[in-house]
Amino acid sequence: MIPVLETERLVMRGWAKGDFDRVAAFLGDEQLTRFVGGASGRDDAWRRFASMAGHWSLLGFGLWALEAKEDRRLVGWCGLLSPEGWPEPEIGWSLFAGEHGRGYATEAALRARDYAYRDLGWTTLMSFIHPDNRPSIRVAERLGARFEKPFVIRGWEVGIYRHPAAEPAKLKPANLN
Ligand SMILES: CC(C)(COP(=O)(O)OP(=O)(O)OC[C@H]1O[C@@H](n2cnc3c(N)ncnc32)[C@H](O)[C@@H]1OP(=O)(O)O)[C@@H](O)C(=O)NCCC(=O)NCCS
Repeated sequence: MIPVLETERLVMRGWAKGDFDRVAAFLGDEQLTRFVGGASGRDDAWRRFASMAGHWSLLGFGLWALEAKEDRRLVGWCGLLSPEGWPEPEIGWSLFAGEHGRGYATEAALRARDYAYRDLGWTTLMSFIHPDNRPSIRVAERLGARFEKPFVIRGWEVGIYRHPAAEPAKLKPANLN
């Protein structure tokens, strides 16, 4: 049920049990997770992993696992999320250790946003980003998103970055024949 999307360098797919070790390694890293809910041991990482997978069943959209086409390794996740307490759906991204600085997050987010606008018919998207998370702010800005306002989510002070709205569907020219 989870659509498989492709970009130039990535396959965006649903989650498999075999992905857990890579996900748990990321979620166990205090530095990498400081702006995405903090580090977890493997048991709590399992709950977070299962909740990413379950989000798809409950809402029909979610975070895709990002696989590099060159060798099928898992490099991170990106996608659409709307958990309890979110004021509206968000587009989010995270890359595992050693996968930063190659443009994967931007590449995947462009595809996920296109999916939200074209396939789901959404008209707007935002990203929550902590003011100290400069790499993530750069991703948002490269995507054309702009700081809109501060917001507090689960006790965290973040910024809402507003993405460019979906372009209205082009009207089909009248058939003159
Ligand atoms: C946020 C995060 C995903 C950003 O990762 P990133 O690698 O900087 O982002 P991208 O994959 O889009 O890569 C862009 C960088 O790669 C460089 N790059 C190299 N090759 C590139 C290519 N082919 N295309 C685009 N950019 C490329 C860009 O110049 C850019 O670097 P810069 O920001 O220093 O200019 C990463 O820091 C992360 O996972 N952090 C931990 C989790 C997290 O905080 N998630 C976000 C929560 S809001």
